[in-house]
Amino acid sequence: MNHMKPTPHDAAPLHVTGAARYIDDIPMPKNALSLAFGLSDVAHGKITAMDLDVVRNANGVVSVITADDLPAGNDVSPSVHDEPLLATRTVHYIGQPIFLVIADTHLNARKAARLGKVDIKPLTPILSIDDAIAADSKFEDPIQFLKGEPESALKSAPHQISGSIEIGGQEHFYLEGQAASALPQENGDMLVHSSTQHPTEVQHKVAESLGLPFNAVRVETRRMGGGFGGKESQANALACACAVAARITNRPCKMRYDRDDDMIITGKRHDFRIDYQVGFDDNGKLQSVMMQHFVRCGWAQDLSLPVADRAMLHSDNAYHLPHAKIVSHRLKTNTQSATAYRGFGGPQGVVVIERVIDQIAHHLRRDPLEIRRANFYQNGQTTPYQMTIEDSVIAPLVDQLEQRSNYTKRRAEIDAENRANPDAVLKRGIALTPVKFGISFTLTHLNQAGALVHIYADGSVHLNHGGTEMGQGLFTKVAQVAAREFGLPLDMIKITASDTAKVPNTSATAASSGSDLNGMAVRDACQTLKARIVAFFAIHFETDAAVEFVDGMVRAGSHEMTFADAASLAYQNRISLSATGFYATPKIKWDRMAGRGRPFFYFAYGAAVTEVVVDTLTGENRILRTDILHDVGASLNPAIDIGQIEGGYVQGAGWLTTEELVWDEKGNLRTHAPSTYKIPACSDRPRIFNVELFENENTQDTIYRSKAVGEPPFMLGISAFHALSHAVGYSGDTEIYPNINAPATAEELLRSVYRNADGTDAF
Ligand code: MTE
Ligand code: MOS
Repeated sequence: MNHMKPTPHDAAPLHVTGAARYIDDIPMPKNALSLAFGLSDVAHGKITAMDLDVVRNANGVVSVITADDLPAGNDVSPSVHDEPLLATRTVHYIGQPIFLVIADTHLNARKAARLGKVDIKPLTPILSIDDAIAADSKFEDPIQFLKGEPESALKSAPHQISGSIEIGGQEHFYLEGQAASALPQENGDMLVHSSTQHPTEVQHKVAESLGLPFNAVRVETRRMGGGFGGKESQANALACACAVAARITNRPCKMRYDRDDDMIITGKRHDFRIDYQVGFDDNGKLQSVMMQHFVRCGWAQDLSLPVADRAMLHSDNAYHLPHAKIVSHRLKTNTQSATAYRGFGGPQGVVVIERVIDQIAHHLRRDPLEIRRANFYQNGQTTPYQMTIEDSVIAPLVDQLEQRSNYTKRRAEIDAENRANPDAVLKRGIALTPVKFGISFTLTHLNQAGALVHIYADGSVHLNHGGTEMGQGLFTKVAQVAAREFGLPLDMIKITASDTAKVPNTSATAASSGSDLNGMAVRDACQTLKARIVAFFAIHFETDAAVEFVDGMVRAGSHEMTFADAASLAYQNRISLSATGFYATPKIKWDRMAGRGRPFFYFAYGAAVTEVVVDTLTGENRILRTDILHDVGASLNPAIDIGQIEGGYVQGAGWLTTEELVWDEKGNLRTHAPSTYKIPACSDRPRIFNVELFENENTQDTIYRSKAVGEPPFMLGISAFHALSHAVGYSGDTEIYPNINAPATAEELLRSVYRNADGTDAF
């Protein structure tokens, strides 16, 4: 297999020694100021009066700004200008920024922000999915995918089931909270440092809030301490606040959210309720699938429409649905604006079809893996959105994983043990679930990238591209591309911060497409530079020999020199050693209103087997063992890819097990710190964790035939959810399908243990 080298993450030594610089580590000039927002404590209401004198007079406060004091625009939305930086008349959720405090220190700004007196006349808040349905509160009319004749196919199917599943949201819990700083430059220009996945959008929003053209604003991002989608649009507010405050005070300004503020102010993964009706035959082969998605989008549109679209686009997962109708309702509520989160809606779609398959297996008393196999896509079949599947490897991949993990034997043992000991308190469960994930932004124009590569006269290389680094190893992979193109060791390639002044008009680093897009753009720039050197050599050495770039040398026939000497010679002969590169993904085309086209360039595949044990008296549980086989094509970096797969799995399992967001009846988020919101700890990782790469090459012409890896493995965590379901299925009345909702917290598992046939709770 043509995998590239497993080089360590370029910043690994910096991370472990604490030397990696994040926004809050960049030294600020002496006169710098700190910011904090004053927040709404009402979920929905009209501001009737504001008394901010106490705030103004508080210790260290330099200025306090409301919407009326903003110099130009008042919007931080990534989509439809519906998200004011500071509330105007109406407030839409508890945590919405109303005023901005500018003070000498971070602590003084935060303390003062609590002192504001804002009178808000409450309006009825719309909090839950049911509230929103009742009030018909939505961002757009329902969107539908329709394939074949689902209604009649449902009626004529030998078996039918129906059901409903609630799927909770998820806090991003990036280790570095949101942060930005702004430094005023001459002539009103602004330099911004932002912990963002989308420097170009920050540039645009800052320019808009200052009334400047884009070229007056420069945004730099060296790295984020995690983004996970939470810094795609949510970074805008802090950058704009800093820029506005810097304009008003003419001093450098910095803002970071403390963890509580971060969790209360910023958006999270969308929670869903999905209702389904399914028809199938005696072998569990799907004949008709009908689903209704209810998506809680929060107060602003943000990225909700494409997120809800992606949930629909993944409602088939790896299965062929001959007849399908998928309807999606995008509901508007008085809660944080739900936003991008690893998988971008895809995981919610996949959870439901996996639930359907599992329920069919229970209904037919078969191993769910048999039902999965009976429905796997075969190449040539079409999706519910009429795209033909051409690259499926799901069947052979699952076969291999079944062998490697010894799934069938282990499942039989667990079943026998559970049957033999119906009263045992500890119950084990095991499940194998697959994933198929579509790669490309569904908004087609975003599938482009740029790069800038310089070769200096000493042969050292300076690399820049439109992607951002959030821990996923993009910068290392892209540097490997440059090193391979030039035949240089990796340490000759200088990795530099994302910078809107170097590569313009970039897309967010998102949709897992960072290395696909930027890797290709960098290769393009490198090839341009090599072509110039090749042309120069031909003339200079009067040779038509092919020019090779290998092992730090440049060779043309008998002429051979180091890359450094070649660079120096080219420079002496006035050859330009700087080039841009560009890439646009081919073949894709998508009509979101019609629900038809080819939204994805290709698919990434994978599967996981998880074994768990549940204490049926307390609901406590552990993952005992996980085996994963995942398809990254020809890997750009097996070490980084395996890290992404492990991290994605654990984050996905966390979402579906312990990570629970709770809002009270007033709309307060009650889980706004690690004390009440439980992400997986090191001790929660699987006791045995075997992760392997599937031997494959991308059928499409991607960078060295690799595949995107950032999001797809997240959905492998679904196997933990089904393993839990398997385990609790052996408690209580085994005739009744366990029907657990996500997250499968200890409480939810206990509820399932005591389930009743009529669907009511036994306690
Ligand atoms: N891995 C780490 N360590 N930190 C992150 O923030 N974000 C994920 C994924 N893996 C993330 C991560 C998300 S949501 C995406 S879309 C991709 O990385 C983005 O990077 P890529 O396109 O380079 O894979
Ligand atoms: Mo990832 S949710 O596309 O940033």
